[in-house]
Amino acid sequence: MEFKLTEEHLMIQKAARDFAQEVLKPGVIERDEHQTFPKEEIKKLGELGFLGMMVDPKYGGGGMDAISYVLAMEEISKVDSSVSVCMSVNNSLVCWGLEEFGTEEQKQKYLIPLAKGEIIGAFCLSEPEAGSDATSQRTTAIDQGDHYLVNGTKNWITNGNSATVYLVICQTHVEKGHKGINALILEKGMPGFIVGKKENKLGIRGSDTHSLMFTDVKVPKANRIGDDGFGFKFAMKTLSGGRIGIASQALGIASGAYELALAYSKERKAFGKPICQHQAIQFKLADMATQIDAARLLCLKAAWMKDQHLDYTESGAMAKVFASKVAMDTTIEAVQIHGGYGYVKEYHVERLMRDAKITQIYEGTTEVQKIVISRSILS
Ligand code: CAA
Repeated sequence: MEFKLTEEHLMIQKAARDFAQEVLKPGVIERDEHQTFPKEEIKKLGELGFLGMMVDPKYGGGGMDAISYVLAMEEISKVDSSVSVCMSVNNSLVCWGLEEFGTEEQKQKYLIPLAKGEIIGAFCLSEPEAGSDATSQRTTAIDQGDHYLVNGTKNWITNGNSATVYLVICQTHVEKGHKGINALILEKGMPGFIVGKKENKLGIRGSDTHSLMFTDVKVPKANRIGDDGFGFKFAMKTLSGGRIGIASQALGIASGAYELALAYSKERKAFGKPICQHQAIQFKLADMATQIDAARLLCLKAAWMKDQHLDYTESGAMAKVFASKVAMDTTIEAVQIHGGYGYVKEYHVERLMRDAKITQIYEGTTEVQKIVISRSILS
């Protein structure tokens, strides 16, 4: 077993780290404060190839492996999770879903600009009454021969306003339950498609999370992904990979907070010596480092399994449930080590603590991950 990254992995990790430190860090506090979507930063991220990292180069992607994706997600998330959530949704949910299950026509029309970062995408599953219980979709797509008529509301949609392409999960045959669900590609600007209010959030405040409303939106049949009724499985399979992305985001939040706490503990003096020389702080740092290393190994294992074309649903869920807990625990301790400074914005750790919480909620709550893991180990 080899625990060493390749030269290529190290180069990608460095490129992501440099981008995060040089481009993202300077404005991150202000973007958080004013809930500003990082439009220019996302554009630059796309130009560097980070928005379609794993897509085949023939469709405009970087042709990289999932391990590279974990490494890049960690570095970006150390600094700005509002950027990394956009990156994760575009890579894992939108590009991967289209590349894996889309038609050639859909790939030419949508995947290529998405993978190049010329446009970004959104994944629309959650509804006012269908969050964890994803089979209970109320948004309908009624078959009208050559097109579907879509009606309903989606909630908490990442990239809700900034996206151009939306993968929308809808119910077509209510009587068939999850086997009657379809995934359709919608475009912003389609008549009847309205972007609703922006959510005022605790964390990842730069990302634009919106509700979406559909009233008699006419969607061509050519925009359905997969066979009739494939939508629920499409969503589940796509989310299995998405969870590796969010686990890596949680890992980055944790390691970003740890690095700040470690540096601060060497500078800050109390009782005549740097606080890192007090055992109370040393024990905290030791716990943080150990937990982060374990989270990183779970993320890399899930990514490795994906690269090997093995079933990564269970390992991705394990990585997410563990890394998101580590993100919460570590950021709370990072604030504690900073003392009063940790409670003010300039020191970054309070933002990381607020950002950490969402990793236990989106792309399946901690409770949903435990359902996925327990079903897998009991099956
Ligand atoms: N891969 C492939 N197929 C899968 C699957 C997977 N990972 N998970 C389930 N399926 C299949 C099952 O095999 C089953 O197929 P058959 O009927 O042919 O046997 C079918 O799907 C139904 O599965 P379940 O009976 O297990 O479905 P369930 O209703 O019990 O739900 C659940 C299971 C795991 C709780 C699921 O509903 C779930 O994952 N919920 C959470 C949804 C979620 O993650 N939402 C987040 C929104 S997206 C987001 O947050 C993006 C963002 O903006 C950041």
